[in-house]
Amino acid sequence: MKARTTIALIAFGVLAALVATSIATNSTWGQRGRYDRLLYRTQVVKKSELWRVISVDVEFPGKNGYNPYYITQVVAIDHKRKDGGYAQLRKGGPNYRNVTLHIKSDRNHGLNYTVEVFGN
Ligand SMILES: *[C@@H]1O[C@H](CO)[C@@H](O)[C@H](O)[C@H]1NC(C)=O
Ligand SMILES: *[C@@H]1O[C@H](CO)[C@@H](O)[C@H](O)[C@H]1NC(C)=O
Ligand SMILES: *[C@@H]1O[C@H](CO)[C@@H](O)[C@H](O)[C@H]1NC(C)=O
Repeated sequence: MKARTTIALIAFGVLAALVATSIATNSTWGQRGRYDRLLYRTQVVKKSELWRVISVDVEFPGKNGYNPYYITQVVAIDHKRKDGGYAQLRKGGPNYRNVTLHIKSDRNHGLNYTVEVFGN
């Protein structure tokens, strides 16, 4: 009886972990081609604040930057998985030379994202 309960709990735990993983919100815009290169990579890490939603804009190439390449793909990888943050494409992106991403946390959660921009 006890063993059966334990097995049921483990099975439930595995299922819950799978569900949590599947909620992780990696976002991808566009398609990366064979000859594309990594133009930019940045890590966005912010601590959680009580009752606050944290949002960050990631800009490439930035106000004084110049990027001669056309962007083909923008990737936002969420390292925090189940904490419900998300990324939105605000400006530019694939077929442009610049991009602005808006990354938002869930209330009471921080952010840990990697943003990558590819192009050629
Ligand atoms: C998100 O991207 C990371 C790095 O590429 C990968 O390890 C992870 O499995 C991805 N998660 C999902 C839900 O696609
Ligand atoms: C952010 O995620 C990276 C990759 O998973 C990890 O190495 C790092 O420790 C994390 N940082 C924080 C502050 O959680
Ligand atoms: C991208 O560049 C165009 C001009 O090439 C400019 O008009 C636009 O405001 C820029 N957008 C961003 C997000 O920097």
